[in-house]
Amino acid sequence: MKDFLSLKDLNPDLWKQLLRVSAEVKNHPGHFRQMLVGKSSVLVFEKSSLRTRLTFELGMKQLGGDAVYLDYQESRLGGRESLSDVARNLERWFDCIVARTFSHEAVVQLAEYASVPVINGLSDEEHPCQALADAFTLVEKWGELEGKTLAFVGDGNNVCVSLIHAALLSGMSFVAITPHSHQPDPEAVRDFERFSSSSSSARYQWTESLQGLRGADVVYTDTWVSMGQEDETRERVRIFQAYQVTPEVMASTGKDSYFMHCLPAHRNQEVTDSVIDSPQSLVFEQAENRLHVQKALLLFLLAPKELDRYFQLGRLAAWKS
Ligand code: CP
Ligand code: NVA
Repeated sequence: MKDFLSLKDLNPDLWKQLLRVSAEVKNHPGHFRQMLVGKSSVLVFEKSSLRTRLTFELGMKQLGGDAVYLDYQESRLGGRESLSDVARNLERWFDCIVARTFSHEAVVQLAEYASVPVINGLSDEEHPCQALADAFTLVEKWGELEGKTLAFVGDGNNVCVSLIHAALLSGMSFVAITPHSHQPDPEAVRDFERFSSSSSSARYQWTESLQGLRGADVVYTDTWVSMGQEDETRERVRIFQAYQVTPEVMASTGKDSYFMHCLPAHRNQEVTDSVIDSPQSLVFEQAENRLHVQKALLLFLLAPKELDRYFQLGRLAAWKS
């Protein structure tokens, strides 16, 4: 694995390893304190960020490395100079590039041109680091995700697509509850239907109706207006109004389901205060886990030999089993 652009590039074994290493990193942070000494990452961001920026910066530092933030919010990548020239400069100084871009193609191209690993820190199409943290958060709750059902309510956006990939990798069923006009990317749905193992009970379902929530173990929502769509705010708020997650919507699962949101939340728009602040809400655990899973990811990409050596020492018996 050179880059981390999309969860669709992973196989279930690699996925399990990432989740296991994440647990080890979270439970024994001191064991990994020196693993990235002398390494540095650059964070190239065309969009705002609280969680992604801070958890990558802090994560690099906690592993003994360094991180530099490069603000591209005023100009687009490829604007002042070509994207390939940017990549060929960055690879001379840094061991890793974390990019947050508008077009998904930009992050793909960065990875093509740069010889060092590129991590997708969110593009218009996918948010793989988020879905990795979300799956890890659920593994902490249940141990095993197979057989569970995740329902995503609202806009079939970048976060929704990466969650479809995560569900496929984990053997979870996925219910997308969105307006007809804002369904998730058909390619992610096709992949789910094509690759979900015939032996597993995992199914993909789309519906416009909140009645699709019955039986869901998790209710997940995200903003109705993603970064870059601000001009459409008025129209989007109108379209998605019926998809607000309220206590009644949560109760309609018929279970004591968890509530999840990648944040930032627009309180009392896509979710009410009473839901996001309820005991069922995992939102701050998700945010905390961004740090742990991304540290694991950085180790996979930047210190694979050290990671191998660590686990062969027998501190994690199940490694690669
Ligand atoms: N969830 C998430 O990616 O948050 P930021 O936009 O603050 O990085
Ligand atoms: N869908 C949102 C996620 C923010 C973390 C966006 O792209 O703005």
